[in-house]
Amino acid sequence: MAGKGGVGKSVSSAATGMWTSGQGKETLAFSMDPAHSLSDILDVEIGSQPRKIREHFYAYEPDLKAESLGFYRRYKNILTALFGLFEVEIKPEDFGTMPGVNELIFMDKLYDIYIENKYDLVVIDSAPTAMVLPLLQLPSITTGFVTRVLGVRNRWMGVLNLLEAGFGDAILKEVRNMRAKAETMRNAIIDPNVATISVVTIPEKAAVMESRRLIETVESHGVRVDSIIINHVWKECECDFCRRKMASQVSYIEELKTLYADKSIAILPDYGTEVKGDFLWQVAEDLYGKKQLTI
Ligand SMILES: Nc1ncnc2c1ncn2[C@@H]1O[C@H](COP(=O)(O)OP(=O)(O)OP(=O)(O)O)[C@@H](O)[C@H]1O
Ligand SMILES: [Mg+2]
Repeated sequence: MAGKGGVGKSVSSAATGMWTSGQGKETLAFSMDPAHSLSDILDVEIGSQPRKIREHFYAYEPDLKAESLGFYRRYKNILTALFGLFEVEIKPEDFGTMPGVNELIFMDKLYDIYIENKYDLVVIDSAPTAMVLPLLQLPSITTGFVTRVLGVRNRWMGVLNLLEAGFGDAILKEVRNMRAKAETMRNAIIDPNVATISVVTIPEKAAVMESRRLIETVESHGVRVDSIIINHVWKECECDFCRRKMASQVSYIEELKTLYADKSIAILPDYGTEVKGDFLWQVAEDLYGKKQLTI
């Protein structure tokens, strides 16, 4: 589930997980948003390990702080040596805030889950706009990195290997390993038999424009967006306020339906109340029970 901030990605992800687990599919809801909100929406404590929250349903919010420290420790020698080449010193506490590190951690966790193959379905709750994009871009970023490392290899390999026998080669092996994982995950995401992408939006100009850009960017990476969830749609009502609200929404809903006639489009009403806990069954019913979307 991807989309602009606050449009209902987490609600839709949680409701999807409720629905599929209710159908007896082993389901994991995986939060890929550094500002986790699945636990609030599901109204349960979710640990930093996949946790069973009800029959067939697990949820997981990776602890980025702990994971980045773990990552740092695991690759400390490599990181120190690599950044040392550029005379940059990195501290463990700074590592987690470096660009790309969160994405790398999420990718690494997702890879473990994918390889473990324990769940029938993993619902990824994305961060605003597109945490999915870095997943698609990571292989080329790591490829670029490998190329660069290879580029400096001739110059630096001797130095690195002097620090410790075979050290330069060990670095290269780790980076290649990371690239292989990133490639596996990208291939999984672009395979329509493995993954589907839903964009969540609301019928307002800024959200629709951003969704259009998001779909275009994602699809330019060769990944099809399968469905669109239009959330917060106003219900029929004769009062002036609601009539005005509905009138402004209709044109955006029509625009999306026309532009994306080839995609499944689901409408979710504005429920007029906070959506969490057992209320998610209602959202799940509206999304899947009324056959708006299939999984
Ligand atoms: N159809 C709806 N009717 C009423 N409230 C809703 C509806 N959908 C979502 N909400 C509420 O809107 C808020 C934001 O929803 P949610 O957290 O799912 O959005 P998000 O896209 O995941 O946000 P973020 O980008 O911050 O991750 C929540 O408080 C939720 O209860
Ligand atoms: Mg969210």
